[in-house]
Amino acid sequence: MNSLRQVTPALLAAAFALGACGGEQPATTAAEADSSAEGAAESAPAVEEEDLATLLAAANPDRGRRLYIQCRACHTLVAQGNQLLGPNLLGFLDRRAGTAAGYEYSEALLASELTWTPETLDDWMRSPSEVIPGNKMIFAGIRRARDRADLIAYLQQATAEQ
Ligand code: HEC
Repeated sequence: MNSLRQVTPALLAAAFALGACGGEQPATTAAEADSSAEGAAESAPAVEEEDLATLLAAANPDRGRRLYIQCRACHTLVAQGNQLLGPNLLGFLDRRAGTAAGYEYSEALLASELTWTPETLDDWMRSPSEVIPGNKMIFAGIRRARDRADLIAYLQQATAEQ
């Protein structure tokens, strides 16, 4: 009798655990379906694998301006613009990384020896943490190459020295 009473809670716990697993099953399957759909989208060459020059030649700066909403919380683009969480970006293209006056960059960015060109900016926006590990721009990155190209076209216009 005694031993039965001890086993029962364990059995109950096991049954509960199985039940919980069963409950998660459909969610896992849906997530798997999602990620395989993403995989399919990524391997479609038309969108993701065109080179930057081709994408830039057809880029839409107006669309880039709307995409820049993602950057605006942390960056200004006007003359004498404030240093927010991130540096003022006026005139940053063709300049060495980490050279906006009055902004305190991370050591990682200062040590990077990067110059901002459409190519380095494209890489940076795709994955800042991969391009300069340890930098302090908390931004996951923009996956679609066309979105990045439209943003670059906008930034080329908007950051030209006024
Ligand atoms: C959450 C705030 C945040 C967002 C959003 C953000 N940035 Fe930044 N950005 C930063 C910070 C902080 C730095 C400085 C990084 C360092 O010093 O390590 C930075 C640095 C940069 C630099 C380097 C500038 C220089 O003077 O060398 C560029 C270029 C840049 N960001 C572009 C962008 C673009 C384009 C977007 C939108 C797609 C964006 N950032 C979104 C915070 C942000």
